[in-house]
Amino acid sequence: MTTELSQRTNEAVEERYDEYVMPIWKDLDVPVKRAKNCSLEDYEGNTYLDLFSGISVANAGHGNEAVVEAAKTQLEEFVHGCSYVHPTEPVADLAERIAEITPGNLRKTFFCNSGTEAVEGAIKLARKYTGSKEVIALEMGFHGRTLGSLALTGNKAYKDGMAPTINDVAHAPAPYAYRCRSCDESCSEDCADDLEQIIGTHTSGDLAAVVVEPIMGEGGIIVPSSEWLARVKDITHDHGGLLIVDEVQTGYGRTGRMFASDHFDVVPDIMPQAKGIATGMPLGAFTAPAEIADSFDSGDHLSTFGGNPVSCAAALATIDELRNGIVDNARVQGEWLSDQLEPLESSFNTIGDTRGLGLMQGIELVDPTEDGPRGVASKPDRKLAKRISAYLREEGIVIGVGGYYGNVLRFQPPLTINREQLERSIKALRRALKREEGDEDA
Ligand SMILES: Cc1ncc(COP(=O)(O)O)c(C=O)c1O
Repeated sequence: MTTELSQRTNEAVEERYDEYVMPIWKDLDVPVKRAKNCSLEDYEGNTYLDLFSGISVANAGHGNEAVVEAAKTQLEEFVHGCSYVHPTEPVADLAERIAEITPGNLRKTFFCNSGTEAVEGAIKLARKYTGSKEVIALEMGFHGRTLGSLALTGNKAYKDGMAPTINDVAHAPAPYAYRCRSCDESCSEDCADDLEQIIGTHTSGDLAAVVVEPIMGEGGIIVPSSEWLARVKDITHDHGGLLIVDEVQTGYGRTGRMFASDHFDVVPDIMPQAKGIATGMPLGAFTAPAEIADSFDSGDHLSTFGGNPVSCAAALATIDELRNGIVDNARVQGEWLSDQLEPLESSFNTIGDTRGLGLMQGIELVDPTEDGPRGVASKPDRKLAKRISAYLREEGIVIGVGGYYGNVLRFQPPLTINREQLERSIKALRRALKREEGDEDA
């Protein structure tokens, strides 16, 4: 099978996936031979505009030259120094840079390899600092798939067949304005008050942390009201816990600011990061104020590969690139995109809601033939989301599909995307929606 020729087709790559790679993802997307900036190329020379960045990772653009150069230079120096045994300059430099760009008094960082590790490390730190055990997360939230993070993840779909996870986790309602169970249409910071109720009814009160995404990514690009995060922080502190703001997906420019917490003017007590931090080189991190961070004693936590110097060098270059215009581009293009998406709500009955910040925008698709009004009672249309995504693929565009109900189209392109590429995407999306509504001219 592994002849040179067979390796050159999409089919041959997929066949070997079937044969030798564990089958954890049913809907494999475009096989990628090469990726540059916002473009993906498959094994047969077809190119695609990437609106999903490998699940929101290639923030500085696939193969960003400054990042590649920095990684290559470090690769030639040394690849592994076990950062927690031998201090290395890339780790020291990156930790210092993260202290500079993160909100408020966040100062000391632990480096690991992925988002889920960053979240689990943050929980350990919160438990160590508070001496408490219980953790609260949000319904429909996502924090990873290893057993600790999986316990926080508020979605049965990820847990099916995997229980038991860790104990002492309760879930509070998500600030999901479009389908809010707690509030009326003006879903607001009051939604956070449910948290108070959950602490009272579902926990012993021995609260170590509340863990939230500032904008829920996998849950369906759910943006809370502007005061919600601050209210959550107050309630958490009133009960002696720490607020862990999971910026794994929202961080590093995705929302048009360096971190989503910046939009809400809230300083997290602990902030997990990963995904866009190093333009695809594996790296996770969590950052805390010195007082909290220093509650870790030697040996409390470690990762053999954590703080890999090549990944750290790539992260330093990524941050420079992001600060050098890319975050601004995310803000400007994101505002434009949001202005284009919103009117689609009234043009197409199949669009229930559009929402997002920066280049993290979602379109929630519903079945208009079902009776319920828009909002909480409308029927999510997961199959339509899949059909639209397949149609866009035919047009050479890759888009994400997700959300708790699987009915949200996710625009999360590299933050380097330009206006022309966004215009092309909107036109293709309109054609796809029209075609679904039976418009012959689409
Ligand atoms: C908010 C959030 N936290 C944690 C994770 C887990 O990250 P990883 O897949 O790198 O373990 C994800 C992944 O999608 C995420 O979106």
